[in-house]
Amino acid sequence: MISKLTNSEGETLELAMKTWKDIQDGAVVCLYGDLGSGKTTFMKGLAQSADIQGFRVKSPTYTYIREYKRKENSIFHIDLYRLEEIDELLWREIEELMENPKNIIVIEWAERMEQYLPIKRINIRLEYKGPDSRQIIIEND
Ligand SMILES: Nc1ncnc2c1ncn2[C@@H]1O[C@H](COP(=O)(O)OP(=O)(O)OP(=O)(O)O)[C@@H](O)[C@H]1O
Ligand SMILES: [Mg+2]
Repeated sequence: MISKLTNSEGETLELAMKTWKDIQDGAVVCLYGDLGSGKTTFMKGLAQSADIQGFRVKSPTYTYIREYKRKENSIFHIDLYRLEEIDELLWREIEELMENPKNIIVIEWAERMEQYLPIKRINIRLEYKGPDSRQIIIEND
């Protein structure tokens, strides 16, 4: 477990860029934290380290699924915040993204589908501590 206080957006990006090396192919990464706590910023930091070759929104129906293409796999960033239905069908949708077992899934507002999440996952918790400060806890075990 890593716990770090970042004091700027840049520091959060940097922490995420360093965290990338601990994320293996096939990982499910869950981002937890209130509005503006830095979840999307953290995802951007991961992408900055990940050698991304292309980007697309999955489809007009699935605008909350964004694909960052790499050479041999993709990182899917899934943002559950604005989704109304969080159910097993949605989890099946996510499982399809895992058909390539190398794909990495990053779920923002993961608490909204807690009951479907695999036990083996990386939890990242972000907490607002002040206008520019965030406590970031990375549970990777
Ligand atoms: N230490 C910090 N780490 C990350 N972001 C910070 C920090 N300090 C200030 N910020 C600001 O906080 C905001 C974080 O926004 P971000 O979109 O990453 O949050 P979020 O958790 O994804 O929010 P939402 O739940 O609305 O999607 C940005 O405007 C960023 O500039
Ligand atoms: Mg966000």
